[in-house]
Amino acid sequence: MARFVCIQDFENSAMNNLAPVVRDYYKSGAGEENTLRWNKEAFKQIRIRPRVLRDVSKRDIGTKVLKQNVSMPLGVSPTAMQRMAHPDGECATARATQAAKTVFILSTISTSSIEEVAKAAPEAIKWFQLYVYFDRNVTLNLIRRAEKADFKALVLTVDTPMFGDRRRDIKNKFTLPNHLRLANFEGFLSRKINSTTKGSGLSEYVTNLFDDSLNWQVIKWLKSVTNLPIVLKGVLTSEDALLGVKYGADAIMVSNHGARQIDGTPATIEVLPEIVQAVGKKVEVYLDGGVTQGTDVFKALALGAKMVFFGRPILWGLACGGEKGARTVLELMRREIDLAFALTGCSNVNQVTKDMVKHKSYYSH
Ligand code: FNR
Repeated sequence: MARFVCIQDFENSAMNNLAPVVRDYYKSGAGEENTLRWNKEAFKQIRIRPRVLRDVSKRDIGTKVLKQNVSMPLGVSPTAMQRMAHPDGECATARATQAAKTVFILSTISTSSIEEVAKAAPEAIKWFQLYVYFDRNVTLNLIRRAEKADFKALVLTVDTPMFGDRRRDIKNKFTLPNHLRLANFEGFLSRKINSTTKGSGLSEYVTNLFDDSLNWQVIKWLKSVTNLPIVLKGVLTSEDALLGVKYGADAIMVSNHGARQIDGTPATIEVLPEIVQAVGKKVEVYLDGGVTQGTDVFKALALGAKMVFFGRPILWGLACGGEKGARTVLELMRREIDLAFALTGCSNVNQVTKDMVKHKSYYSH
């Protein structure tokens, strides 16, 4: 790892370390993987307009999300089953984000439990990602445990009534290896995912257990059972962002689930401006999807994101070196973000404004 200079180096190395079935599960997108490509390509269509001679000797890339200070505008998206990447899994990631003083989002379908993660990283800023099960008591139990373990927000994933068409997982008959379990559950809910009859075991799990009848009332229900702020993850249109605000969400995360749900959606950075414009300052807007460079974070901030998240790069860090790997990935991104600020004449997040980026079409006449 000592010689790694960018996220791509971590990814290349992780590709060699991981078992092929796990590698495919982590890396894949849905369908033909068009959106997977676009998530990254779209960042490259945006050009930076750096300002000069603006004294950047005192820089602070920290910001505030849901009233909490974070040391940088990049946090960790929820990715399931991290113990497949490293035996310490989510506990290692939580410790890495604790050291980095930024947000860690734990997946419902994690291989370390809410309580294990809280114990491993008591000072980390932890949010809990929620999948809503047919049995509402299962979800209620998760919420109570997250509250008790001092998680600071619920991240309701709204793009997953079923799992996307992940072809490699179907071919591989992807299941969770037998030595691991879905740690937030007991018995059937914990073990069901370790076996499959036909295609992807994970897809079967979701079809059997996740509530595909969810509608906007679910936000009202959540607000009636908890005081934790609610982040809606998986919004891709201004219409839905506005409905989210109407029903009482505290923040919107613009996300296409790392291109793993429906292939053909735009890149998240493409839809960010329409959503920011629609909701204005009513709620915070975040973005994830395809972020691998400090300049990607810079571009998302310029287009109005309050905070940016990433998923796969942390898995690559974990696969390369557990907690140390995840920490190294976070610190590499911190350096890149700080450099982007310095080289564009920005000393803090408030100076990263809309006029600092333009779509490439602006320059083509
Ligand atoms: C995810 N994602 C995800 N999202 C969620 O709400 N709950 C989950 O359990 C998971 N699990 C998951 C597993 C893996 C392997 C990946 C790659 C992604 C989506 C995730 O939170 C995030 O939206 C994307 O990972 C962001 O895209 P990048 O940064 O991976 O390009």
